[in-house]
Amino acid sequence: MSRIAYLNSRYIDFSKAKVHIEDRGLQFSDSVYEVVPFYNKKLIDFNFHAKRLKYSLKELQIKYTVKEGELKKIFNKIITLNKLKNGIVYLQVTRGVQPRDHDYKNNLIPNLIIYAINRKLNLPDKNFKGEKAITYEDLRWKRRDIKTVSLLANVLAKKEAVRKKAYEAILIDNGKITEATASNVWIVKNNKLITHPSNTDILKGITRESIKRIIKSNKLQLRERCFTVKELYSADEVFITSSGNLVTPITKIDSRIINKGKIGKISLQLATLYADYFINE
Ligand code: PDD
Repeated sequence: MSRIAYLNSRYIDFSKAKVHIEDRGLQFSDSVYEVVPFYNKKLIDFNFHAKRLKYSLKELQIKYTVKEGELKKIFNKIITLNKLKNGIVYLQVTRGVQPRDHDYKNNLIPNLIIYAINRKLNLPDKNFKGEKAITYEDLRWKRRDIKTVSLLANVLAKKEAVRKKAYEAILIDNGKITEATASNVWIVKNNKLITHPSNTDILKGITRESIKRIIKSNKLQLRERCFTVKELYSADEVFITSSGNLVTPITKIDSRIINKGKIGKISLQLATLYADYFINE
């Protein structure tokens, strides 16, 4: 079966979906993106992703108007056309095409790219396991709240993680943990959850926000504050969250074993409650 992508209002063969060599997304990472998971053909938290997309576009003044209803229809159609059940939909909006110049023109027509990727979602089933992470210096720019494709620092950190046979790289900025290359980081200490506050230093993850609501409704304790590498190493539990890997327990960081190498009680509870939330949403 041939794969179908969506490019600027057309559903086309995946191999024919191309943008211009002077697209600003290619030359300047002048572009934003979203990753929306779907389970059993149903999009998870679509409206929250659409809102964050609007925010990223506004912050960069990219003139693309998001019509949530229309976008949702395209996402659903892409899932159906590609006959997928579980996975992620990737969306990218670039500022558009112009002769190369750092200064952008105000009248550019943005490029809209959407396609879906088949993926087994990380659910707390019998194969659910703790993963290894490394720590790595956070080399990113100072507006990490905007979901841009400016991801080179994330790419280098992830490559180092993979080189060390780890699943993720947890980023350190001035001795404090910000987040990971493509996920938010949480620790548990004495039954209390801790995660970095949502400001310009991290991406306000959609999964993070859903987990926050679950924490509240289950009367668990959460503090949003910065935490150090020392606190990370000595945490009772560590897990990461994202649309790509949902809730993933971390049981080894660098050479430190977390929770005797086992998935922690609260991590498993949240992974289970989060799965219940979107399976029955
Ligand atoms: N990444 N932090 C960073 C730096 C991210 O890139 C992501 C998501 C998250 C989690 O956000 P959310 O819960 O909204 O997925 C946090 C996506 C999945 C990616 O780049 O593939």
